[in-house]
Amino acid sequence: MNLTYNAELKPYNSFGVSAKATCLAEIHASEDLEQAVELADSNDLPLLLLGGGTNVLFAGDFPGMVLLMRNRGVEIDRESGLIRIAAGENWHDLVQTCLKNSLYGLENMALIPGSTGAAPVQNIGAYGIELESFFVELDLFDCNSGNVRTMNRKDCNFSYRDSILKQPRPRPQVVCSLTLQLLRDPTPNLSYPTLAKELEPIGDPTPQDIFKAVCQIRRRRLPDPTKIGNAGSFFKNPVIPHNEFEQLRTRFDSPPSFPAKEGIKIPAGWLLEQCGFKGYTKGEAGVSERHALVLINRGGATGKELHQLAMEMQARVQSEFGITLEPEVRVICTA
Ligand code: EPU
Repeated sequence: MNLTYNAELKPYNSFGVSAKATCLAEIHASEDLEQAVELADSNDLPLLLLGGGTNVLFAGDFPGMVLLMRNRGVEIDRESGLIRIAAGENWHDLVQTCLKNSLYGLENMALIPGSTGAAPVQNIGAYGIELESFFVELDLFDCNSGNVRTMNRKDCNFSYRDSILKQPRPRPQVVCSLTLQLLRDPTPNLSYPTLAKELEPIGDPTPQDIFKAVCQIRRRRLPDPTKIGNAGSFFKNPVIPHNEFEQLRTRFDSPPSFPAKEGIKIPAGWLLEQCGFKGYTKGEAGVSERHALVLINRGGATGKELHQLAMEMQARVQSEFGITLEPEVRVICTA
């Protein structure tokens, strides 16, 4: 296990904001986890789990130990379509590996930044597909009890950008590996209108065509976190009751909407654009010119500045529409 004290977290969060942790532990194997937890216990340090750091905003320093998942390995059984992946593997690399091995289903989720271990925590999804559909089980190290256990799909209780693993616990529950069941036959999912439109010129798209189209859309719509600090969608898309949607329709001709389980899902990006936030800047913090749901670090923004901007956006949508935006990004504001 590699340990760094007084660690700078800037390289480990896609917003690229500066923050300090008392200690950073790089985890390569489960023994490292046990050792790290013991060390944190004896020094009375709180723990924070970090995967790719692509869904987190450090609004301040973290006075504790950060666990950075670095374990690697992909086991593929082409016959059954089952694949077991170590949590530290990069998600987009995994999507490509699956395609190379003629295993399908993940192509709609190409280019989602972050690690594989983080994928089930917030049930990642894009362009009509959610991880949940391919999920079989995961191995979890519970830093609260020190136990390792296996959780199946039912145990995880997945919903839109959510799972039981997102519920706050005194200490993290660490996903060490996960198993997915992929498809051996191409089964294109073109249910997302933007994707269907992009593929219109291609009559019968292959999974590779879908992969390419998703990459193109994402590159066009979303800033590349390796070039401009960001964490993708900052807020979840809110679901509002049918009667509130009818009220919205009296104010706007045809507000974009998607049917959802408990009502109508409204794109938060649209609400924020109506409030004038697209391309908005506030010092070094700002909002992407291409997508109003994406907060960006224009260079030297602090996490606190970005957090203040997020709260300003939330308050504006609340007063303008009476709709509460819930962050998708995890905000760490301990100090
Ligand atoms: N829109 C605007 N203005 C904007 C942005 C969006 O009006 O500035 C409206 C447009 O009508 C557009 C609609 O919102 O058609 C939907 O936009 P988009 O297709 O970009 O999707 P989204 O709902 O904003 C969600 C996910 C994304 C995912 C895409 C595609 C959430 C919170 N976000 O975004 O996920 O890539 O759908 O499936 O569910 C992420 O989680 O970080 C992420 C990028």
